[in-house]
Amino acid sequence: MDKVGVGIIGSGFVAEIHAEAFRLVPAAEVRAIASPTEAHVREAAAKHGIPRWFTDYRRLLELPEIDVVTLALPNDLHCEACCAAAQAQKHVICEKPLCTTLEEADEMINACRAANVKLMYAEELCFTPKYVRAKELIDEGAIGELYLVKQSEKHDGPHADWFWDVERSGGGVTLDMGCHAFEFFRWLYGKRPAVGVYADMGIFVHGDRTRGDDNATIIVDFEGGARGVAEESWAKPGGMDDRAEFYGSEGVIYANLLQGNALLTYSQRGYGYAVEKAGATQGWTFTIFEELWNYGFPQEMQHFIDCVASDRQPLETGEDGKAVLEIIFAAYASAGRRQRIELPFSAPGCKPIELWRQ
Ligand SMILES: NC(=O)c1ccc[n+]([C@@H]2O[C@H](COP(=O)([O-])OP(=O)(O)OC[C@H]3O[C@@H](n4cnc5c(N)ncnc54)[C@H](O)[C@@H]3O)[C@@H](O)[C@H]2O)c1
Repeated sequence: MDKVGVGIIGSGFVAEIHAEAFRLVPAAEVRAIASPTEAHVREAAAKHGIPRWFTDYRRLLELPEIDVVTLALPNDLHCEACCAAAQAQKHVICEKPLCTTLEEADEMINACRAANVKLMYAEELCFTPKYVRAKELIDEGAIGELYLVKQSEKHDGPHADWFWDVERSGGGVTLDMGCHAFEFFRWLYGKRPAVGVYADMGIFVHGDRTRGDDNATIIVDFEGGARGVAEESWAKPGGMDDRAEFYGSEGVIYANLLQGNALLTYSQRGYGYAVEKAGATQGWTFTIFEELWNYGFPQEMQHFIDCVASDRQPLETGEDGKAVLEIIFAAYASAGRRQRIELPFSAPGCKPIELWRQ
């Protein structure tokens, strides 16, 4: 059977992850990559054995051998690139967050629907092996009725300038990392609708760099009384921390995604392989191994390739990405007004951050 041809748009941090992840998907072949940074995209193509590279992604979209494109782009470019890809009859994988306005979300969903191509919202936590196992336990009733899920991701802030510029990113840590928590809650609660959001956020450490929140706590209530609590931070030094807790009427599960899987290492001189977002590797560190697999990236890509090959809808769709964005908007509105926001909630013509601080 012919392999599914993949094109990567972007050549930065997550493009690298996608290229590595696709190496582990035998039915897929990455055939082109595009990014305006010529030297960098050429280097990325050589490093990953990708035969063609472009500085304009529209050229990549013209290639008949590309069936699927993955958007590894700054948030403000997701909508434009998704619609162009759909018009070129390519299936689309879009990184989180889906986009920066609810109108863009509709545009993306409608463009893919009109072109009859699939759109996957790339939330890898729904493919993370540790969390997939936790969900299996929960679904078989091992901890009774699930009523509370906590998720938190914390590090000392993003690597690229555009994340800090809210005009481009659309928001701070609630948008950037809260989006993981919100889809994680929805997935665990069987995609029940969220009905209310209460959030508090602040800029504690990075006020010289951004107008975006760098630390936030968000409570999301779901239909039927279930609750999610997200604690997200760009203000924590010492590397990435990513964990979850699941509380049921008859049990509890704790998951520490990275430190719970790591080699506990003490090194006086430090070592070469960077622990994600860690400033240093001297002293005690949590050395990560098989990081992409433990996060679920290859499994996520395998899933979408299977969906394309067998004409099935992916587990995570554009509609899921839009539902997450709605929770993000409600969170910024809640923090801005200092009150709980009921859903459905919409904020026409603006980006999430605009609901918090002008
Ligand atoms: N799922 C995850 O865990 C995860 C992790 C990191 C980032 N992300 C998401 O992935 C997306 C990209 O983030 P990143 O960290 O890779 O950013 P990055 O800044 O490292 O990379 C962005 C890339 O886009 C390229 N680019 C900019 N304009 C372009 C254009 N017009 N055409 C083609 N390429 C263009 C840049 O040259 C760069 O290669 C963001 O939406 C981010 O939120 C997701």
